[in-house]
Amino acid sequence: MNSNTLFTPIKVGDLKLPNRMIMAPLTRRRAAEGNMPTDLMAEYYRQRASAGLIISEATPISPQAIGYNNLPGIFTQAQLESWKKVTAAVHSNGGRIFMQLWHVGRISHSLFQQGHVLPIAPSAISAGEVITTPEGSKKMEIPRALETGEIAGIVEDYRKASANAKEAGFDGVEIHGANAYLIDQFLHQSSNHRTDEYGGSIENRARFALYIVKAVCDIWSSQRVGIRLSPSNTRNGMDDPDPAGLFGYLIGQLNSFNLAYLHLVEPMMPLDNYPHMIHEVARHFRPLWNGPLITAGNYNYEKGQAVIMEGIADMVAFGRLFIANPDLPERFARQLPLNIPDTDTFYYGGEKGYIDYPKRESVND
Ligand code: FNR
Repeated sequence: MNSNTLFTPIKVGDLKLPNRMIMAPLTRRRAAEGNMPTDLMAEYYRQRASAGLIISEATPISPQAIGYNNLPGIFTQAQLESWKKVTAAVHSNGGRIFMQLWHVGRISHSLFQQGHVLPIAPSAISAGEVITTPEGSKKMEIPRALETGEIAGIVEDYRKASANAKEAGFDGVEIHGANAYLIDQFLHQSSNHRTDEYGGSIENRARFALYIVKAVCDIWSSQRVGIRLSPSNTRNGMDDPDPAGLFGYLIGQLNSFNLAYLHLVEPMMPLDNYPHMIHEVARHFRPLWNGPLITAGNYNYEKGQAVIMEGIADMVAFGRLFIANPDLPERFARQLPLNIPDTDTFYYGGEKGYIDYPKRESVND
């Protein structure tokens, strides 16, 4: 036990956070034509500025990185300029915001890709059965395996996107290494059957992730760079015979970068059929990580307080609760009732379910 709570300020890298309640990265698909951030997005993030830190929705680093409709990008000058409205809105309301950098890899479809080419992946293995595309539900395609020589170009896209995020006024960036997207596809054995230096051994499968971390840290002080991992995610065809060894190695290597934080996602699905997977992710990896640790996944106030007081994590990311409660830290502090998230408007609905959840002051009881 220690004396820290969700309300104890914390230093993350060289940033001082006023509390330990982090807004989890949340794809909301409200961007405009051209993958452009909007004024509505600026208002949504502004409303949530009381979080210790906001992590933006996952943001494609290149046209190839896209796998859903209406995502805001960070690969054109116009997008970058428009993100400035978001960062300014958060800062003017006293908040801090990191951008989550994203490449979906094989969780895409040729209908999302320029020239309608196949999505790319470490190996030519499909992620599953169906995917929603601009033309409705389609069978997932078998992605094209990247040539060894192409990989440096994708690392370069991360570098450029990081520089764009910096120019757009973000306080830092989070590398999205979780949830079955490209970096995770390289890590897990089920999606990486490569025979070059990016496949086979754990060291080889972690190489892509580590190159990206290095490239991003060329642009940003490592103290402003975080990374998100989901060692126990089994969705979209993720599996590995040795997740403890794989992620233990990666986290060991990440220690040498002196990053702002490591962000770990707890299992979101039952692991009954995956006895080799780690059931308590933060508890397992805490001893291996030397820096600040964020934990995410199904936390409420009580569970969040407990995980911090036990010293298993330093901060807690809340996803769905931040969607529905723009003033979540205040509600927690005053033990006030919470709004219920409306799942129908998670990914659709314009203002509805986005900027119209009432703050406590306007609630009548
Ligand atoms: C997510 N999640 C997610 N994760 C991520 O790394 N990048 C993202 O863009 C998204 N997008 C997203 C959208 C929506 C609508 C949901 C509900 C979730 C996962 C999210 O960050 C978080 O890990 C989970 O929601 C679990 O936390 P909660 O909601 O139980 O607090």
